[in-house]
Amino acid sequence: MSNVVEADFTPGIGMTTTQAPFIEKARENGELYIEQPYSLYSEENHETWRQLYHRMHPQWEKYANEHFLKGIENLCLDPNKVPKLEDVNKFLNPLTGFRAKPVSGYIPAFQFFECLRNRDFPTTITMRMAEKLDYLPEPDIFHDIAGHVPMHTDKAFAETLVRFGECAHTAAMIGKDIKDKEVQNRKVNSIIKAMARFFWFTIEFGLMNDQSTGSIKAYGSGLLSSYGELEYAIKSPDVQRYPVQLEWVVNQYFEIDTYQPLLFVVDGFDHLFSLVDELELWMKEGKLDNVAFGEPAVGGADIRSFLDA
Ligand SMILES: [Fe+2]
Repeated sequence: MSNVVEADFTPGIGMTTTQAPFIEKARENGELYIEQPYSLYSEENHETWRQLYHRMHPQWEKYANEHFLKGIENLCLDPNKVPKLEDVNKFLNPLTGFRAKPVSGYIPAFQFFECLRNRDFPTTITMRMAEKLDYLPEPDIFHDIAGHVPMHTDKAFAETLVRFGECAHTAAMIGKDIKDKEVQNRKVNSIIKAMARFFWFTIEFGLMNDQSTGSIKAYGSGLLSSYGELEYAIKSPDVQRYPVQLEWVVNQYFEIDTYQPLLFVVDGFDHLFSLVDELELWMKEGKLDNVAFGEPAVGGADIRSFLDA
């Protein structure tokens, strides 16, 4: 049970990224999983949602994959108000068993993947600053609910996420079996890096061949929640787009605060699912023990989260 209570805060005080007293308090208390204090959203937060949703909608119609478009329809999101996670879950849960689960921010890697395995999606509930619609110092509710959650209404995609969560279990078991602490640290670090890169180049920034139109569409949530980058990812001649290759993805560094110059294309969600199977196999065979250096950095808390699992 959470110690941070909605009633202790002024209604409408705001749930703005980096400026939300409710979230600061929850973080101070070390509470990862929280309630969504809906009355605290400010008018400005709702207005930001409205603006983001309305400018994104025509872009989704042009560049999002069909499963996402169906998902947006199935979730019945209100274009004019920050969504209540409770309402989102009423539509989402019967479709795939997934639920959006409100969190106070960063979740250690293992716990994050474990949530996916249990069909919970750790969901940020703050809203980006109104005057910086395109700047995201950390994920917000628009990224998580409008970018990620529509994909979770699709059965094949949902199964892939669960399968990915299972890989984290495998990784934790492999890590715990290594006796030498230094070797253990190095290998677990490498496996988490490989998993994070896989997640980044698929779930966050993945592109997909659209068989019916012969075009490329986006299924990655980082693209689907970014007004500027969605079109750029699909149209710009400056982006390199390659058929996905696992050995490349797990060894490829990335930077988070720039439009992605390199993206990978899958043929469909069955294809993506088979890649997750392969990722796990490679993990077991030791093929992820020495991936290339570079971003993302894996923190001590992430490594511990696997070893303490
Ligand atoms: Fe994300």
